Amino acid sequence: MPVNTTDSKVVLTHPNGSSVEILLYGATIISWKAPSKLDAGPPAERLYTSAKAFLDGSKPVRGGIPVVFPFFGPVTRPEHAQLSQHGFARNEVWKFDSVVLDSEAGVSVRLVFEPSAAVQAKFAAPFKLSYVITLAAHQLTSHLHVDNPSETNTFTFQALLHTYIRANVALSTVTPLKGLTYINKLKPGFPEEVEEREAVDVREPADYVYKSAPGEYEVSWGGGLAIEIKASGFNDVVIWNPGKESGQKMSDLEDGGWDLFICVEPGAASYWIDLPPGKSWDGQQVLTVI
Ligand code: BG6
Repeated sequence: MPVNTTDSKVVLTHPNGSSVEILLYGATIISWKAPSKLDAGPPAERLYTSAKAFLDGSKPVRGGIPVVFPFFGPVTRPEHAQLSQHGFARNEVWKFDSVVLDSEAGVSVRLVFEPSAAVQAKFAAPFKLSYVITLAAHQLTSHLHVDNPSETNTFTFQALLHTYIRANVALSTVTPLKGLTYINKLKPGFPEEVEEREAVDVREPADYVYKSAPGEYEVSWGGGLAIEIKASGFNDVVIWNPGKESGQKMSDLEDGGWDLFICVEPGAASYWIDLPPGKSWDGQQVLTVI
């Protein structure tokens, strides 16, 4: 069976050997193994999950693909006052809903999140979330769907897929970001700057929110394209890596972990989405191994 569910996890497998592991905690994808299209090598891990990440539901996972919702970064709005950084979707338990597709082409499942009483006590606005994760031979798609069930109120939110791409930081770059305006979160006052680099690396700490981003990114290393990322519904992309000094202070990041990933995070991070009553919104990310 290509879909295996337990109380805490869903594992999808594909006949070509690729697989994806999803924790119900946060609907966090913690592993995606896929073979390269270019050689006959075995499936390799394509995401980074820290060896010190908490996988027991006590803390958001340091790695994989955490779901950031209903806001990005620290709290800035009064209705979020009782919530923590990046919102609650990544630290609440989601429910397995259904197998959406099970065929030669791929295998796909839907997880849903309906706010618990504890969440609703801290956050009054009603909403529904569903997340469809699809594994194909060389591809992983994650599709977030937000519903506003209210008959009267607009639902205002941000959302982002905090994707930790496994990469040798010394050799890896992300393109094409040249010419985009970005919010530099490393500088006081978060000034806006324009990216001048042809290819962006994270050999120095990076925390940049690129606005009006193209929705198609390439992570390359060793002289060639390695992973392609296509996003829709998300106008920003965040590039993040804490570097050694800040990384060493993170209790859930292993020593040297900062050398092993680039976060490429498609999202609505610099702006808010206003979802009218009764309407829904979709954001999607497709990762392809080359
Ligand atoms: C990034 C933010 O998306 O996530 C950073 O831009 C933040 O500012 C990083 O430090 C990690 O956040 P957290 O809450 O998972 O430690």
